[in-house]
Amino acid sequence: DKYQARMRAHTNIALVKYWGKRNKNLFLPVTSSLSLTLDAFYTETEVLFDPSLKEDSFTLDGQVQTGQSLAKVSNFVDLFRRDFNMSLPVQITSRNHVPTAAGLASSASAFAALAAASNQALGLGLSPEEVSVYARQGSGSASRSLFGGFALWHKGQGDDSASSYAQQIDPADWDIAMLVVLVNPGPKKISSRQGMEHTMQSSPFYALWPEEVAKDLSAMEDAIKDRNIDQIGIIAEHNAMKMHATMIASNPSFTYWQAQSLLAMERVRQLRQAGYSAYFTMDAGPNVKVICPYSQVEAIRQALLDDFAEDHLVISRPGPAPYAV
Ligand code: DP6
Repeated sequence: DKYQARMRAHTNIALVKYWGKRNKNLFLPVTSSLSLTLDAFYTETEVLFDPSLKEDSFTLDGQVQTGQSLAKVSNFVDLFRRDFNMSLPVQITSRNHVPTAAGLASSASAFAALAAASNQALGLGLSPEEVSVYARQGSGSASRSLFGGFALWHKGQGDDSASSYAQQIDPADWDIAMLVVLVNPGPKKISSRQGMEHTMQSSPFYALWPEEVAKDLSAMEDAIKDRNIDQIGIIAEHNAMKMHATMIASNPSFTYWQAQSLLAMERVRQLRQAGYSAYFTMDAGPNVKVICPYSQVEAIRQALLDDFAEDHLVISRPGPAPYAV
């Protein structure tokens, strides 16, 4: 028998960040984290489990993958094969939908789509929370892409994998948007995986991180309940700055910021002075994401056009949970 499915999953941007693992094998995080799923960026993945296939294969954006890239997804599918006691080879075909200038290819949407498609193809009937436990073990942030709107990924207890799942906390079906400022990625790239590990090992500021996240999470949940975009923005911006401060204080020091990132941050601060509810967050790369009301996002985009090319400014509304395509 053959088992096939094709699913689309959207990326997510953390407003209270995940930065550090307590268990690297199981992708168990040091803290819980909270994100907004985005409409504009997604991955579509088709899986075919078929006994007539010789071995696993993986095609990404039309390119046949081998070596590490194939091993990563093959090992990920092994989690399903192990738990559901089957050994069928799988053919995986994946496409990232991100703007051409991006550098925003996302492991979050990728592993969420692969986990959702595997669940669907194999007819496992797992709940989104259960699927998020699988997605997490491909990339931590992927756990949150099983949900639309605002999602909370629970850190869980001890080494209990099942206790570290994500869930939706609000559909974000109100006046909120994100404007992604695409900054040309420079030469050196440190993955978030390496970056968080190096930070935990060498940054004296990391000791402060877990308690700061705990405070930010509870304040953020209140701000979301109140639909208070200024509170959401203030907490998210401060949380991102604290995370980046742990990296700057690591030894040897590193940062994902580039000159254009600093320019974007400064412009957002100026827009705030001018009366806009605009706030920024940044992840393990140079791009800057502006949090603002949807009703202000076009005016904010216009203002940023003085410094950034049109195709480097991408407006996104909140996005949905994975769905079949
Ligand atoms: C800065 O989920 O990419 O974007 O679990 O090692 O795959 P791995 O890391 P990943 O880390 C994301 C880090 C972040 C913050 C966040 O998304 O919460």
